[in-house]
Amino acid sequence: MKKTTILLAVAALMMGACCHKQEASTGSTAEAVVNNIMQRKSVRQYTGAPIAQDTLATILRAAMAAPSARDWRPWSFVVIDDKSQLESIFGDNMNMRMFRQAGAIVVVCADTVHVSPTRENPDGPAVPQVNSMWRDDMGAVCENLLLAVEAYGLGACWTACYPFADRMAPVREALGLPPTVVPYAVVPIGIPTGDSQPKDKWDETRIHHNRW
Ligand SMILES: Cc1cc2nc3c(=O)[nH]c(=O)nc-3n(C[C@H](O)[C@H](O)[C@H](O)COP(=O)(O)O)c2cc1C
Repeated sequence: MKKTTILLAVAALMMGACCHKQEASTGSTAEAVVNNIMQRKSVRQYTGAPIAQDTLATILRAAMAAPSARDWRPWSFVVIDDKSQLESIFGDNMNMRMFRQAGAIVVVCADTVHVSPTRENPDGPAVPQVNSMWRDDMGAVCENLLLAVEAYGLGACWTACYPFADRMAPVREALGLPPTVVPYAVVPIGIPTGDSQPKDKWDETRIHHNRW
């Protein structure tokens, strides 16, 4: 019995060593991930071809994996692939040319109020609480979305909706957003025509060690 236990322990240790070795060999995954980040760029010209539904679903799944304050996940997405609705949704938005060319457009929305039991009374009823950090969460979700788009060889451009009243009003109205929901960003996604290149933004002077 004791011998069996020792054998099992040795086997477990060996498996651990083996798994660790496997972890150490994932350098290529790290390179691929960092490379994807470095390759991301704003793409403003698309072929007009549609985006496959399952690809779009995976992109939105990746977006939703973003971190959020208190894990409140204030995001929602409205996917627009009916081009006949563009004018009525976006009015005279200055990015309309991009939207027309895109295969799909994602309106990334933020709920500024979170409904759940409070910290003070975690077993109590769900109550509405103003989410003071929704803007931070939305930056993270948009970047996740853009990185997933890049990973699929597609192109996208983050276009601001919030905080511009003239951009938000028609979107809010046309999409029937609830009063606490803000149309945060509009992200056209399409097959790139291939003219956009990533920028080299490396700037060593932005890094400080131990103090400014
Ligand atoms: C909050 C935000 C709002 C933006 N709004 C617009 C926009 O309305 N129209 C546009 O063409 N690009 C917009 N961009 C894209 C930026 O212009 C772009 O990210 C920047 O020039 C850097 O280029 P890169 O994305 O290729 O690295 C926006 C980006 C951010 C983060």
